[in-house]
Amino acid sequence: MGPGAPEDGGWAVTEIRGEILQALRQAGDRFVSGEELGQRFGISRTAVWKHIQALQGVGYPIEAVRNRGYRLREEGEELRPEAIQAGLATNVFGRHMTVLETVDSTNRYAFAEAEGGAPEGYTVLAERQTAGRGRRGRPWFSPPGHGIWMSVVLRPTFPVFRAPQLTLMAAVSVAEVIRERAGVSVGIKWPNDLLLPDGRKVCGILSEMSAEAEEIRFIVLGIGVNVFGRVEDFPPELRGVAGSLAEPGSPISRTALIQGLLGRLETDYRIYQNEGFRAFRERWERLNVSLGRRIAVQTQSGQKIGWARRIDDDGALWVETDEGHLEKIISAEVIFDPGS
Ligand code: BTN
Repeated sequence: MGPGAPEDGGWAVTEIRGEILQALRQAGDRFVSGEELGQRFGISRTAVWKHIQALQGVGYPIEAVRNRGYRLREEGEELRPEAIQAGLATNVFGRHMTVLETVDSTNRYAFAEAEGGAPEGYTVLAERQTAGRGRRGRPWFSPPGHGIWMSVVLRPTFPVFRAPQLTLMAAVSVAEVIRERAGVSVGIKWPNDLLLPDGRKVCGILSEMSAEAEEIRFIVLGIGVNVFGRVEDFPPELRGVAGSLAEPGSPISRTALIQGLLGRLETDYRIYQNEGFRAFRERWERLNVSLGRRIAVQTQSGQKIGWARRIDDDGALWVETDEGHLEKIISAEVIFDPGS
């Protein structure tokens, strides 16, 4: 990071924005004047205002009131590693942890750390991602303070072909924790999307793997949960399809959710290593909203339309196609209720 412009008192831009956020967080409900911030960081009030506008522009809910100053109205508590770890009931998951204000993608960051030797269970969280990754190369909208953007490094001993089932297992763990800790009846759309009762997607899971031949070096398990948000907080193209667990200001604790997620994921991962997806099939079926539905599946070999009939012990989806075949789908994108 290079030095900041002279009007920034020599600070790097991202550094000073982080410091301004920190000062506003410390002030809690109190307004902090532009003058106070300017003096603290050795910059002009105009420069403070420019930074505030930039922070507002990327989603920080900062109120600006003439003659009073600035106040940060964050939806939930700030994520702090000490607070998360204090309530963790795990042996390895989250025991090494990095919490960032901003990162391009927690998956990208965790992947690089894993390549450098980060241990199993190493967890990366961020308040905001600037280039959150979704499945099939899609972006994942990750505004500050609105969700849980988390990646966990795994170093499993099972072979490569079992990796996709791990994301199905994770969908079960995450759905159960959301139901228990946030009281929202999410369901699983095969393979691993979590949907609100009205069908909007509230959580996505993306695992990325480094492997050599049949051997897994590591997997980065990335989980994105939209915790706080209103319809209008999403970009227009996502409004009909994406949702959040709660309205901003609701008393859901992201810290408690993360603790629950890491605890459940660690337990389930051990079970999965020993027993495979078979041990999760019933739990998956209880949470599923896919079976019995008319679907279109987009696979590498083209689109198939039919009825989602069942999943098997390997987590594969069996579809009765309109051509009358029963087809086993291992990896695909599912669309509900396609037009014929
Ligand atoms: C999907 O498309 O359904 C998967 C979305 C996964 C998003 C999460 S947010 C934390 C982690 N970091 C990323 O860049 N992506 C995953």
